[in-house]
Amino acid sequence: MEKTKKRILTGDRPTGPMHVGHYIGSLENRVRLQGKYDCFFIVADYQFLTDHLRETEKVEQNIRLTILDWLSVGMDPAKSTFFIQSMVPEIAELTMYFSMLVTVARLHRNPTVKEEFKESGLRAMSYGFLGYPVSQAADILIVRSDLVPVGDDNVPHVEQTREVARTFNRLFGEVFPVPKPLIGEVPRLPGTDGKKMGNSMDNAIYLSDTPEEVQQKVGAAITDPARIRATDKGHPDICNIYQYHRAYNREEALYIAELCRQGKIGCVACKQNLAAKLNAFLDPVRERRAFFEAKPSIIGEALREGNERTRQEGRETLGLVREAMHFNYKELAGG
Ligand code: TRP
Repeated sequence: MEKTKKRILTGDRPTGPMHVGHYIGSLENRVRLQGKYDCFFIVADYQFLTDHLRETEKVEQNIRLTILDWLSVGMDPAKSTFFIQSMVPEIAELTMYFSMLVTVARLHRNPTVKEEFKESGLRAMSYGFLGYPVSQAADILIVRSDLVPVGDDNVPHVEQTREVARTFNRLFGEVFPVPKPLIGEVPRLPGTDGKKMGNSMDNAIYLSDTPEEVQQKVGAAITDPARIRATDKGHPDICNIYQYHRAYNREEALYIAELCRQGKIGCVACKQNLAAKLNAFLDPVRERRAFFEAKPSIIGEALREGNERTRQEGRETLGLVREAMHFNYKELAGG
């Protein structure tokens, strides 16, 4: 297909339900980008295997939940292409070629691979874990994407992708664009305990939470630790609930910070206000989720079409790759 708009590729591992931090950090941005760009959104199920090899019985349901999260925030398969990594086998083939262009030492230096390995608790690193940035380069370059919206943890992978594209082009001729990362400017939203919000941490507010769950989680959240009585002067800058106000109560955030500093609003009232704002944001998300949950055929159709369109692009890219690498063997085997 002709490239008229710039291309974007980004996506998620299907590791579980997505939270309000994911929305602020990436999903909101995707909804905005999908009209302006030709967007491809990947569910990276091979990448799920790097640290969830013993939980593959969950992968299909996780993929379903990921797609429901996407749809419920307004990502739209009529405007964008949704696909599953393992259902586009062209990505695996491209990974094979790319794997020859990256040194093992280079992969060992990737700070995100190191960090995730530490977090995984695994004793030894598999070849696939070490090499997943190469597979991610293939995710991005299989559709010859121009831009890759990511959080800062994924910037090393986009840098790796750029190196792969440059190396390929230098060795075999210009086939790939050198894609640029689009890095979100919003600071990462902390969990309700003030630590990094994460799926296994019991500190996340999910897009799929009920109003009661949201109220309960916000009510139990840690606030400014230096504040004991409601009339004490507060310190919004060190309060994680204030970060939530900045993300989900943008209009009132500065005013609330001021009241807090003067000791004119207590943590209970501040949290009640926030829970109401979060629920007001989540209500239409819940409605859309319920709509799509009742129509699983929409998800199936979106994925079938998305996988097929990505495969078409992939076949075209691989045609160029094999031609450039003298791997087309037309005479030898009629390929
Ligand atoms: N590594 C990303 C994450 O951990 C997921 C991902 C896989 C991705 N392939 C990608 C992101 C390609 C951007 C582009 O969430």
